[in-house]
Amino acid sequence: MKRILFVEDNEVMRELYAAMLSRDEDHWEATVAPDGETALTLLQSSTFDVVASDMQMPGISGIELLTEVRKLYPHSTRIILSGISDQAEAANSLNCTHLFIPKPFELKTLKSALARIYSLDAYLKDEKLRSLVGRMRTLPSFPAIYLEILKEIDSPNSSIETIAHIIAKDPGITAKMLQVTNSAAFGLAGSISDPAHAVQHLGLSAVRSLTLSAQVYSSLNCRPMQNFSPDDLWGHLLRCANLARRIMVCEGSETSETEDAFTAGMLHDMGEIMLADSLPDEFEQALKLAEREKIPLREAEIKVFGATHAGLAAYLFGLWGLPAPIVEAVAFHHTPEKSDLKQFSPLTAIHVANALCDEDEAGNLNLDYLKKIGALDQLDVWKAIAVESQIELADN
Ligand SMILES: [Fe+2]
Ligand SMILES: [Fe+2]
Repeated sequence: MKRILFVEDNEVMRELYAAMLSRDEDHWEATVAPDGETALTLLQSSTFDVVASDMQMPGISGIELLTEVRKLYPHSTRIILSGISDQAEAANSLNCTHLFIPKPFELKTLKSALARIYSLDAYLKDEKLRSLVGRMRTLPSFPAIYLEILKEIDSPNSSIETIAHIIAKDPGITAKMLQVTNSAAFGLAGSISDPAHAVQHLGLSAVRSLTLSAQVYSSLNCRPMQNFSPDDLWGHLLRCANLARRIMVCEGSETSETEDAFTAGMLHDMGEIMLADSLPDEFEQALKLAEREKIPLREAEIKVFGATHAGLAAYLFGLWGLPAPIVEAVAFHHTPEKSDLKQFSPLTAIHVANALCDEDEAGNLNLDYLKKIGALDQLDVWKAIAVESQIELADN
């Protein structure tokens, strides 16, 4: 049984939430509070797995409340229930929530978000990963701008200008987007300075994925460490995403799967930055251990944290409700044999791209897995694609 605290000034809504959860097969026990002050008093005397708050309330606002919850009770999952116009404000000003549920919402949206949180907990059967998640100083917030872009892309009136306008509201994302557009990987060395041109050039699906990774990346602050550079990691993510996309295209995959592979490529190692940001001393210890014992970083992470960057990031992306193929590809990018997927999938493309696009990862290719899913024969073709993309990068 998990405990949720709803904070909502509208009495009808409050009763609705409580009634909904009372029928929820005993997974959730709901408590309601009419305002932020009451919520903080309740939090002092009991523990809640989830705090879900309305945005606009008299007295303490939803953002102020969740910022306080983040500080005082970092292990609670924070949900904001808010209108789309508020989300932009929340995204630009504060970094306090794990999940946005846009209002007005149907109860089933809230229920499916809670079911997701519940099932993620089951996914965290691994006690060590569970305790690592609990020890994180903070888990990155849901990128609200990403949600705005998704909405815009789906709208019949969407245009490159409106999407560029959304991106331009966030200087961190804009800078990263322009850097990517002008990077050798896209072959445009330094010629684009306007977000609208960048969007036009990258295409909407790449913009969507890049917004997501750029926002996670720019929300985290790592101190400099030996053998770890967030900038180099960003380069690795980009190379891997590009190669995974090419592999998917080569295999004739559907567009949506190909996009998932690109997104997973951009996100697969974000767990490393999350660890470097939240638990820097231990992450540095893992880096040193990897170097001293000549073992892959993920093995050193298991020794130090009991879990890896892959599991940690997959947990976060699951919480955010990213599509399952992306979460799977992130979770198992080093250990595809542990996944239930027994055929070629975005996970295969990420696993292979990760091993082929960086020398450090070369030893990580699992040939047995490729054989089991009947993909080993394709490896030479994928290697050729990897070489070709390296040459293209070098030429630019
Ligand atoms: Fe990795
Ligand atoms: Fe990687």
